[in-house]
Amino acid sequence: MEVIAVANQKGGCGKTTTTVNLAAYLALRGSHVLLIDLDPQGSSTTHLGIDKDNLPKNMNEVMMERAKLEDIIIPTTVNGLEIAPTNNDLVEADAVLTSKVGREKRLKKKVQGLNGYDYVIIDTPPALGNMTLNALVASDKVIVPIQVEFFAVEGLKTLIRMLDELDELGYQPKRRYLLTMCDNRRKITEEVSTKIRGLLGDAVFKVVIPENVRLVEAPAQGQPICLYDPFCSGALSYKDLADEVAA
Ligand SMILES: Nc1ncnc2c1ncn2[C@@H]1O[C@H](COP(=O)(O)OP(=O)(O)O)[C@@H](O)[C@H]1O
Ligand SMILES: [Mg+2]
Repeated sequence: MEVIAVANQKGGCGKTTTTVNLAAYLALRGSHVLLIDLDPQGSSTTHLGIDKDNLPKNMNEVMMERAKLEDIIIPTTVNGLEIAPTNNDLVEADAVLTSKVGREKRLKKKVQGLNGYDYVIIDTPPALGNMTLNALVASDKVIVPIQVEFFAVEGLKTLIRMLDELDELGYQPKRRYLLTMCDNRRKITEEVSTKIRGLLGDAVFKVVIPENVRLVEAPAQGQPICLYDPFCSGALSYKDLADEVAA
């Protein structure tokens, strides 16, 4: 089982889009995949067509140790993909964990108790708080989506500092970076991409996610892109990402 966090404290860089579509394409390749939604906004939950305001149980119960992770998992419309859903209740765990010893290890313990999954993919909130910390500590790999724009590199420094601090504590998720929302008609795209690849080298995925309006429409239909429009450029690039991750 490989555990992958998708993290970047910057909002709107493509974390949820990447989590949902990578998880879906890994499942389509035949893997058994669990998506853990660890963002109180519940965007991954909604993206998969699940009503986040009518959940029997959610990740808050798990992080508060009132329910077992196994007991909140539900199926999705994608064969082989299941989700541990969440909603705004999770702000409780985020606040309460701050005063708990060993708070960063809670999710790791629960994930280690799972059986039968090939991949666990974790969506995180746009902050470096307790939920992102728990996701990073639980993970073998972290995928950092980077929106290709002028300020992209600046924002990365805080996250890299946190990853360096975790390294010192013995938590060393392998770092991978994904260029998202690339618009090749803009001259800045190539400049910024080249700069990021120069800085981060082979840790940057070869595949690049293009700017694609179908990826924006799919969440409103409650469908991952593989079901909404499997032949659009966004779908093909997320399929390639799953191949690269699985390789
Ligand atoms: N490759 C893309 N092309 C166009 N729009 C995108 C792309 N990826 C994400 N978006 C849109 O950008 C917004 C932010 O993406 P999202 O995945 O929710 O980011 P995050 O989870 O990091 O906040 C959403 O409206 C989403 O539909
Ligand atoms: Mg999100």
